[in-house]
Formats: sequence, C-alpha cells, structure tokens
Amino acid sequence: MALRLRKLSYALGAEVCDIDVAWPMGERQFGEIYKAFLDHGILLFRNQDVTREQHIEFSRRFGELDRHEALPRDRHPQYPELLMVTNEPKSDGSPSDTQYTGRQWHSDMSFTTAPSLGSLLKSYAVPEVGGDTLFANMTLAHDALSEGMKKLIANLHGIHLSGTRKLANDNTGIERMAEQKRINPPVAQPVARVHPETGRKALYIGEKVKRFDGMTEDESRPLIDTLVRHATRPEFVYRHQWKKNDILAWDNRCVMHQALGDFDETQLRHMERTTVLGAPSGYVVGGG
Ligand code: OGA
Ligand code: MN
Repeated sequence: MALRLRKLSYALGAEVCDIDVAWPMGERQFGEIYKAFLDHGILLFRNQDVTREQHIEFSRRFGELDRHEALPRDRHPQYPELLMVTNEPKSDGSPSDTQYTGRQWHSDMSFTTAPSLGSLLKSYAVPEVGGDTLFANMTLAHDALSEGMKKLIANLHGIHLSGTRKLANDNTGIERMAEQKRINPPVAQPVARVHPETGRKALYIGEKVKRFDGMTEDESRPLIDTLVRHATRPEFVYRHQWKKNDILAWDNRCVMHQALGDFDETQLRHMERTTVLGAPSGYVVGGG
C-alpha cells in the first residue's frame, strides 16, 4: 500500500497518515517511509500509543541507536536508548535535569564526533497550550545564500559546545554544566555539511556554536548570528504543536530545532527521544 502523506508546512515536514509504527512492517514499506524522511526532513506519526520497547524497535529501523553515553544523566535508567525530556520533578522533589532541554537552536549531538542521523521524539504529556517545537530546513537555508556567502563558509568549521542550555536556577545546573564539559570537549563541525545520503549541502550551525575554528569569538559572532537568523526565517520553519502520542522523526543532518518553552511550567510536559547514530563528522578541538 502506498504511503499517504500530508505536508506539514511549506518548508518541511510531512505527516504519515494511517500508520501504526508498532505494526510489523516489511522492508518495502519501511523503505517508503525512509524515502519520505529524506524528502521531507521531518515525519509526523500521530496517535502512537506504543510502549517504550516499540518506540525503540521502530527507531532501530532508521539505524543503530545512541545509548546516550554523552548525556548520562538524561537517559532513562532502564532504557539507555531513551533520552528523557521532561519537567517532571525528580522523586526527591528537586527539578528535572532535562526541563530546559533543547531551548536553543541546535541539531542533536552536534557537539560529538558522531552527530545524530535523526531523532524520534514521542510525547507522553503535553501542556494545555504551547510547549511547541520549531524546526528549520537547513538545506533550503543553504541554497538561499548568495554565491559569495556560500564560498565564504565552504571551508569554515564551527566549534560546538555541549551544556549551553538554559540552567535551572540552582547549583545543580552549574554542576551539570561542568560535568558536560568534562565528558564532551568542544567539537568542530563543517558549517556547510554534505548530507551523506542526499548529497545536498545543508547549513550546520546553531546556538551551540561558539566560534569558528581558527577565529576568535569576537570575529565569529556576527557571522554565526547572521547565519542563524537567516536559517530561521519563517519561510524555512515549521512549528509543531504537540498532541499526546505524537512521534516526530527528524533528520538532524539537514534540520535544526528549538524547544520554545511557551507554556505554563506548572503543567506537565513529558517527552522521550531515541537518537539514531550518524556517520562520523568533525574533530575534537583542544582548549575550546
Ligand atoms: C530534543 C529536543 C525539543 C522539545 O528532544 O532533542 O530538542 O521541544 N526537544 O522538547
Ligand atoms: Mn534536540
């Protein structure tokens, strides 16, 4: 049966209709899904009331999963393949470590030398309004640059830092950040990255980028800001309004995203993510 797709926005994304991701799926049907993933950058599967095991199993179809050694505090204690994104306080009442995950433009695991191919985020609880996520099509953004700018960035590498997220208003945030720095030294990634499967160039930049390799922070900042502002123009962006039991799969090699935090933080927002490992990219930078 042919897939039924519905576009989510002008720039990117498609909903895959009438599908249950827990249903056994042949190679042919998954092949169609994977092709749609490459074509649209984001796939939405609605009403997926599936177990954690089923979320993990479906994700494995996309490739080998990250066990989140780079983010040890954020994974599920029993399922290392699941990264928690939740504002539910810990059992001792202290704030969740992951309540501010994703609150800046980024691509998952860009601060490692095995940045993610894609992520599959499932929503378990969503606030009454808001808690949306923005996504930007970095292939379109790259293509829309002038030839002069494409040339200028062609050989640049951006230095990505982990642990730049907004911090909880207490010491745990500072400890966390120090730990993140120890586990994940700065990594340089090409600013214009060739997608290994489509062969198309995409901007690979975001708010975890501190400077360009070989340049100072002061020299780098204006161009980083210009590129992020360019890439996040409304015509390149899709804004996802979550419903419970959505699974959203995105291609981290050509899409960046940001959690907005546009919701009442006293309400529960609970998501769980699998992360598909990508091809090696980038190099560790001594001294940051
Ligand atoms: C993520 C992430 C955004 C959100 O899970 O990688 O950035 O809106 N989440 O929760
Ligand atoms: Mn993310």
